[in-house]
Amino acid sequence: MTGSICGTGSYIPRFTMDNNDIAKLVDTSDEWIRERTGIIRRHIIKEETTVSMASEAGKRALENAGMDAEEIDLILVATISSNVLLPCTACEVQKNLGAVNAVCLDLGGTACSGFVLAYNTAEAYLSWGIYKTALVIGSESLSAITNWGDRGTCILFGDGAGAAVLKAQEGVSYLPAVHSDGAKGDALTCRSRYEVNGITKKDSYISAEENEYFIQMDGQAVFKFAVKKVPEVIGEVLELNSLGKEDIDLYILHQANRRIVEAVAKRLEEPIEKFPMNLQEYGNTSSASIPILLDELNRAGRLKPGQRLLLAGFGAGLTWAASILRLPE
Ligand code: COA
Repeated sequence: MTGSICGTGSYIPRFTMDNNDIAKLVDTSDEWIRERTGIIRRHIIKEETTVSMASEAGKRALENAGMDAEEIDLILVATISSNVLLPCTACEVQKNLGAVNAVCLDLGGTACSGFVLAYNTAEAYLSWGIYKTALVIGSESLSAITNWGDRGTCILFGDGAGAAVLKAQEGVSYLPAVHSDGAKGDALTCRSRYEVNGITKKDSYISAEENEYFIQMDGQAVFKFAVKKVPEVIGEVLELNSLGKEDIDLYILHQANRRIVEAVAKRLEEPIEKFPMNLQEYGNTSSASIPILLDELNRAGRLKPGQRLLLAGFGAGLTWAASILRLPE
């Protein structure tokens, strides 16, 4: 038994900022950003929220799967940027969709590995027969936690949501490869804005303008980590499942930086055509990047029955993860 993807959806905010717009905020240029990252523009929330984007992406995934919301047993949302702490984003999605029979939970803090970890979690529930259907969502409003005065980070991030519907079906359940290295967590951080403690820190409210309340990153350290660990974890997940590179049709990597994706392809000695990218349009949308890309490929007719996909995420924690899935025949 396995959890097969049988529908996808996404929601992208309409408002965009291209590299020239960013160059009005910080000392940078379109040329520099394109060359170092491959990013051309990013979409930014205006009236949308993490919850509203997650709900719309989920609704579109259900429509694509031809399922009603009541048929969903589990809703899992990966996010680091929910606009609400309580109730969790997954419960808000449940309410908005009318998925009255679903168990709902968020996977917080898993950042750019979030969708792969959420997919693994849902797939494990489905392959063990605990639930029959799952809606797995990655949704992020990173613009709300980005320091728009820091050129080392604000050029990179964007907002959006993607979703996949999984159904328990006969088939092989592949083992995932997942790693965490908390000792290197300082490379990518964002402190809680809710540190004001009404009892013990009454007078110590720290302004949200302070830089540490936004994403802070050692760009070079994260870059080096990604180009080393992603090829390693891809090799590991292939070996774990006795598969070779020739068994993989497409590598769906977290969309952080074109140079990272190209370096991974080179290290694996795989053609770049097997690594679809859309980061030029959206920037890095953290947990949303993989399901947005999956949805775009699906709607463009590039996902075919029986194809094997390899998903790989990496980011804050530090965490990195890879999973293999087979599309239903
Ligand atoms: N515009 C123009 N110049 C910039 C700049 C910007 N936005 N950001 C940095 N620079 C400058 C630096 O100040 C430095 O100048 P100097 O040589 O005069 O000191 C020079 O460009 C090189 O900086 P460096 O930090 O070495 O650039 P880089 O090639 O490492 O690119 C990143 C920076 C952030 C694009 C790159 O490190 C990266 O993509 N890292 C991974 C980030 C990531 O993907 N994070 C999320 C993972 S989930």
